[in-house]
Amino acid sequence: MPEALRPLAVVTGASSGIGYELAKLAAEAGHDLVLAADRPEIVEAAQALRQFGGWVDYIQVDLSTRDGEEKLIALIGQRPVDLLMANAGHGLGHGFLDQALSDWRHVVDTNITGTLYLVHRLGQKMRERGRGRILFVGSIAALMPGTFQAVYNASKAFIDCFAVALRDELKDSGISVTCLQPGATDTDFFVRAGLDDARIGSGRKDDPAIVAKAGYEAMMRGEGDVVAGLKNRSRATPAAAIPPQGGAAERRRGLAEPGAGLM
Ligand SMILES: NC(=O)c1ccc[n+]([C@@H]2O[C@H](COP(=O)([O-])OP(=O)(O)OC[C@H]3O[C@@H](n4cnc5c(N)ncnc54)[C@H](OP(=O)(O)O)[C@@H]3O)[C@@H](O)[C@H]2O)c1
Repeated sequence: MPEALRPLAVVTGASSGIGYELAKLAAEAGHDLVLAADRPEIVEAAQALRQFGGWVDYIQVDLSTRDGEEKLIALIGQRPVDLLMANAGHGLGHGFLDQALSDWRHVVDTNITGTLYLVHRLGQKMRERGRGRILFVGSIAALMPGTFQAVYNASKAFIDCFAVALRDELKDSGISVTCLQPGATDTDFFVRAGLDDARIGSGRKDDPAIVAKAGYEAMMRGEGDVVAGLKNRSRATPAAAIPPQGGAAERRRGLAEPGAGLM
């Protein structure tokens, strides 16, 4: 780890999609990077991001585990973190009772527990220093009942709700907390979640570079929630944010229903 000549950005889930684009924006703006993801593609991503001239290190770990989180924290060491982008997460399609326990637990352990673990540890150091920026990658899925992706939507509802509260807790601390709420975005997400044969998997999606830019810029301005995508902003109205109702679940079921995107 070099001396802190440049500010440091930590990005989880930086091997592809929105996380890669967030890391690219931070690199372009002159940050050094620490990246984490669970598959070997992180090596290639780190290599590509070195072209922006900053120092880039990475670790291949499963952030659903405490061991993986600790390895990432050890890699960062004593160097102060200026930007923490807690982006790693994944979905899971199909009916809850048809999902393997290990699969739905991995969603909860990655999207919720792993995210909070990292924010807790690095957030404490930011507070000691009196500065830092935290970006959660939530989802507009948080605002809707997730029939056939029930655990995923509920995990993002947790993150969105948590981020608002943490933002308020830290309002006088020098730490800003932002939550990016993307709509359907064109990444590996749907294939990994087993949603590629559902209507949502085959529909129109936003560009991850544009989604990431909206989140990155909102984080740098210290804003709270940002919904990426014009169409998504209209979905994220206060009316959509009422507690999930049965009728809404019924209307949503067609979006992630297995096989419904192939018709
Ligand atoms: N795409 C969408 O429509 C959409 C909409 C709203 C919100 N989001 C959220 O946006 C974030 C980024 O997703 P994406 O769309 O960019 O999909 P993506 O291309 O699949 O990227 C997900 C990233 O998270 C990493 N990751 C997932 N589980 C991990 C784990 N247990 N340990 C370490 N790394 C892990 C992946 O790394 P590995 O490949 O190494 O596992 C990958 O780098 C997620 O939190 C997702 O829930 C996506």
